[in-house]
Amino acid sequence: MDPRNFKLHSAKELTPRGLCPGKRKLAPQDAQAPGALWGAQAEGNLPAGPADFLTLALRFQQLIVLYESTVKSVLTQLEIFQEDFRVKGAHVPIQSCSSRIKEPLSIVRKLRKQGVELSLENIQNSLNDIAGVRVICPYLEDLYAVRDLLVSWRDFTLVEEKDYVRSPKPSGYRSLHLIADVTVHLSSGVQKARCEIQLRTIAMDSWATLEHQLRYKSKGTVSAEVANDLVKCSEMLFASDLKMQQIAETLGVFEQINRGPESIKFFR
Ligand code: GTP
Ligand code: MG
Repeated sequence: MDPRNFKLHSAKELTPRGLCPGKRKLAPQDAQAPGALWGAQAEGNLPAGPADFLTLALRFQQLIVLYESTVKSVLTQLEIFQEDFRVKGAHVPIQSCSSRIKEPLSIVRKLRKQGVELSLENIQNSLNDIAGVRVICPYLEDLYAVRDLLVSWRDFTLVEEKDYVRSPKPSGYRSLHLIADVTVHLSSGVQKARCEIQLRTIAMDSWATLEHQLRYKSKGTVSAEVANDLVKCSEMLFASDLKMQQIAETLGVFEQINRGPESIKFFR
């Protein structure tokens, strides 16, 4: 074929993957028709039939994939920071990261608790923690260093900050919470999705994990004495965090080292 006759198709003109030849593509006007797969439905109502159910299920699935992409993006960026510190021979302020997407049952429960009608729009507008990332840091100073790095990231817009490190919850809970809108680059363009990032020291994380287990085991209610003991444990661990921070400063942990890998020293 003469290359000059070759017509370059735009991505939009190409047959979508999964569509069999001969099958009609959904025309834009069909998208709004009742029962159309991508049509706008009244989400507050129960689906009337299979087509409505599929519409809702697919839109919910798309929303969850958006939140999953947000979490992936945040985790990748954190990993980039981590590796960058490591390769420069500097102190790495991130010990480990984990993530979770809120379960559908928890989503429904939380909306009901807020007295908000169950709909896809309300899930996006009323809940900040569908996408959750937890960052565990070695020292207190690292929490704020990682916070600053995230805030300086172009795809990250800080919406709210809750400093439960300086102002712990009455339970004794300590963590630095960031609520942010994260830009996600999808095939259809750019979208933003809300994400909750919890930054904790190793000590704070150990307390929160055990306290959560203990409260869960006692079905959410503990005696005043136990609650008081839990606050005391939190204070002891915070005192340890402050001391560890001081020791690390004394030993120059936070100073930029910028030395080569150990092997360079070995071959000198
Ligand atoms: P939620 O409805 O619980 O999400 O509360 P919220 O929207 O007011 O947010 P908040 O700033 O209280 O942070 C909520 C999250 O922080 C929870 O989902 C937990 O992961 C964590 N958290 C808050 N308080 C405690 C606590 O007392 N103990 C433990 N273990 N975790 C807590
Ligand atoms: Mg929550």
